[in-house]
Amino acid sequence: MSKAAFGIDIGGSGIKGAPVDLKKGELSADRLRIPTPQPSTPEAVADTVAELLDAFTIDDDLPVGVTFPAVIQHGVAMTAANVDKSWIGTDVDSLLTERTGHDVFVVNDADAAGIAEMEFGAGHKVKGVVLMTTLGTGVGTALFNDGELVPNTELGHIPFDGEAEDWEKHVADSARTRDELDWEAWAERLQGYYSVLELLFSPDLIIVGGGVSKKHKHFLPLLDLRAPIVPAQTRNEAGIIGAAALARAAHKKAKKHAS
Ligand code: BGC
Repeated sequence: MSKAAFGIDIGGSGIKGAPVDLKKGELSADRLRIPTPQPSTPEAVADTVAELLDAFTIDDDLPVGVTFPAVIQHGVAMTAANVDKSWIGTDVDSLLTERTGHDVFVVNDADAAGIAEMEFGAGHKVKGVVLMTTLGTGVGTALFNDGELVPNTELGHIPFDGEAEDWEKHVADSARTRDELDWEAWAERLQGYYSVLELLFSPDLIIVGGGVSKKHKHFLPLLDLRAPIVPAQTRNEAGIIGAAALARAAHKKAKKHAS
């Protein structure tokens, strides 16, 4: 089997997908983006995922990795912070496998982005504790030790200032735009958040992803942390690439067990 898989990134506004060349860590065709149906119920999203895959000519046995912005345990969505609440308890893995006819592997979106960075980006060959954070509508996190992922860390939901609010609501990129913060004011909030993360995990490296990481020059130099903090390298494609990499690994493992 060639080193290929398909990656799909399910987000609040768009569902994006493309075949991935896992030797290079690059998309092997232009990605397609379809707006996320509203309301984004499991049925409606499954239809869109099937429509996206149908737009590509791919082998039936090509593994498909799908990211989802929630805790994913054994293929089941356990939370729904920024998506329709009807996802809680849905076996996303089975739903999408049945609907698309492909062997689908579902993973938390930040974990997928982290895998992409560890394999092909800023975390490549980095030993010790690496913390990936994605700053977008929400805050996603992925924690690695010597390259091994601890899944579903959800560190965006650490309570903020002992109040009922999460850090996510205070430091996500959506908070920056909602509260009309300039870079300095946002960096001040980020300083508080990353200091808490440093206190808890003493990372050797912190990687910052999400769309806003393109503008890292405006805010990363303002942060004063013990660990180096760097922008993600796989950027927009991180979720697609990471999901594809995980799907291929899971598919290979399942085949090995079956034989
Ligand atoms: C969700 C996480 C997700 C993150 C980024 C959070 O609200 O709880 O599962 O990784 O948003 O999308």
